[in-house]
Amino acid sequence: MSTNTTDNTRKVTTRRLVEMKKRGEKISMLTAYDFSSAKILDEAGIDVILVGDSASNVMAGNTTTLPITLDQMIYHAKSVMKGTQRALVVVDMPFGSYQGNSKEALASAIRIMKESHAEAVKIEGGSEIKESIQRILCAGIPVMGHLGLTPQSINKFGTYNVRAREEAEAAKLIEDAKMLEEIGCFGIVLEKIPAELARKVAEEVNIPIIGIGAGGGVDGQVLVMHDMLGINKDFSPRFLRRYANLAEIMNDAVQNYIADVKSGDFPSPKESY
Ligand code: KIV
Repeated sequence: MSTNTTDNTRKVTTRRLVEMKKRGEKISMLTAYDFSSAKILDEAGIDVILVGDSASNVMAGNTTTLPITLDQMIYHAKSVMKGTQRALVVVDMPFGSYQGNSKEALASAIRIMKESHAEAVKIEGGSEIKESIQRILCAGIPVMGHLGLTPQSINKFGTYNVRAREEAEAAKLIEDAKMLEEIGCFGIVLEKIPAELARKVAEEVNIPIIGIGAGGGVDGQVLVMHDMLGINKDFSPRFLRRYANLAEIMNDAVQNYIADVKSGDFPSPKESY
């Protein structure tokens, strides 16, 4: 096997992601929130499964990620862990579970790890939450940072537009990324920032940088599974590539089923006991 290809059997660990960056092998990451989807992604060879707080939008139908609770994230993470053998599973710490108080942040992270058996947590923010991240890291829990567009702060910024276009915000983002590396995070998600800035961050830090709407100059890519499979048709940002149109396929299948039930064609004698 070439050193530049993913080994489809070896368990993915945080250390392995750093090795992948070192040898220039791109990292693939997608979200999942349930057992069956996680099993499909894992068997397809995805490197990292993110139990994202985007579950608040795509699973629960909320307009933001804010309402999802720690209990709900743990429920999703447990289901994903049961369907995953090879991929590294990272769980988002939900809004309100880590911001105010580093002791509470540690207690939330410990609950995620203990109850779900997941392997790492992801936290939105930089210098403002440094103490919380440090406390979690001190307990031996791997942490992935998340900078740029941080959806949990939607009420502060008021839009989901591209972030860090201004020099001051870009400079803070680079500083935050270096700080996250220095205190021991194993990777960082950069969301919706200019591609050149993301490339610079990926060059200046040694931990993997995973982009979403951050261009191709980073160490890997993450998308929300429901968006890239076309299950969620209402979300079409420029950075999204759709690999399937499952909403249409499911709609056709359901319409055929309805027609067969109504006409009496289903079930046939062969499908009966
Ligand atoms: O919650 C999520 O799905 C995420 C990704 C968009 C990175 O944080």
